[in-house]
Amino acid sequence: MIANLSGNGIAVGITGIGAYAPSRVLTNADLERMVDTTDEWITTRTGIRERHIAEPGQAASDLALPAARDALAEAGLEGEDIDLVVVATATPDMLFPATAAILADELGARKAAAYDLLAGCTGFVYALSQAYGALATGLSKRALVVGTETLSKITNWQDRSTCILFGDGAGATVVEPVAEGGILGFELGADGSGGPDLCVPAGGSRTPATAEALEQELQFIKMRGQEVFRFATRVMVTSAEELLAECGAGVEDVDLYVPHQANKRIIDHAVKNLGLDSERVFMNIDRYGNTSSASIPLCLAEARDQGLLEDGTRVLMSAVGAGLTWGSAYMTWTNGGLRR
Ligand code: ACO
Repeated sequence: MIANLSGNGIAVGITGIGAYAPSRVLTNADLERMVDTTDEWITTRTGIRERHIAEPGQAASDLALPAARDALAEAGLEGEDIDLVVVATATPDMLFPATAAILADELGARKAAAYDLLAGCTGFVYALSQAYGALATGLSKRALVVGTETLSKITNWQDRSTCILFGDGAGATVVEPVAEGGILGFELGADGSGGPDLCVPAGGSRTPATAEALEQELQFIKMRGQEVFRFATRVMVTSAEELLAECGAGVEDVDLYVPHQANKRIIDHAVKNLGLDSERVFMNIDRYGNTSSASIPLCLAEARDQGLLEDGTRVLMSAVGAGLTWGSAYMTWTNGGLRR
């Protein structure tokens, strides 16, 4: 689906951001000691140098909580002010209850509807669109949109083709009506025929996590890397181009491009084909790896810290992930001072 939302009569923006990454860092040198790989291979093929790894007892909601608290603090809000919590994650605390409900309880968001959303690495963009829809219709007044992942828990640490890629982290945003600017449009899609290219086979109703499934290591991420790579390079470009055209904008209007951090080569390909200058591209993949649904809000938090998000900054976000899904959001940044 695709929409230019600028004529909707309501402006919805991000008024607070928070981020959290576990303190333990796993470097490429550490991985050299675990699997048959080299720092040189990982750096040149992916752009990743290190990633954060959750402690054994740390679940997705534990990473989300400090990020959400910081986002609420920036927005000047308490948990009880929030009436919608959407958590994008592929690594929930458990199959149910929803990680969003656990988080809402910890935040004291007792009036909030809370649910999880599964769209792989596109989860944050999808979740932002859900919050936009709820706010634009008046169903929600203030939403919390979170991306949180503990991918290290579903990674096979003996599989060198996947274990070098992923990391853990969380990012949270407060989404509210704003006086002007805000979200201008979304383009979202899915091609389920590519599902087997990136999946965790066991743990759902198709293949429950039986002893037999665990013996076959079906609880871990399985990925056809080249297929995902080809798909990602294509849709990262088409999704952004289609959304900008729908919004009557050109690539020259984009002040900051915040792509999902899957692989530096995927980002470089998108940047080149979109015709963006590298100064307008935000990247932190070298320090976080692929944190799936957390990657865009982690980038937004760092971009804010670096003073790159000012009132009026035009931000384009694009992601691709398991599903296979993809999505882009285009918005004019409005800081808290412009809250309606
Ligand atoms: N170290 C050293 N060699 C390796 C490693 C490693 N860690 N991993 C693979 N290789 C080897 C392969 O075995 C192969 O060897 P061979 O030629 O002797 O057979 C060689 O390197 C090349 O392998 P390719 O798979 O062709 O490597 P490629 O350049 O495609 O890079 C990668 C692999 C990084 C996984 C890439 O395909 C990729 O980034 N794919 C997209 C992954 C992705 O983004 N996934 C997540 C998307 S979103 C989500 O929702 C999670």
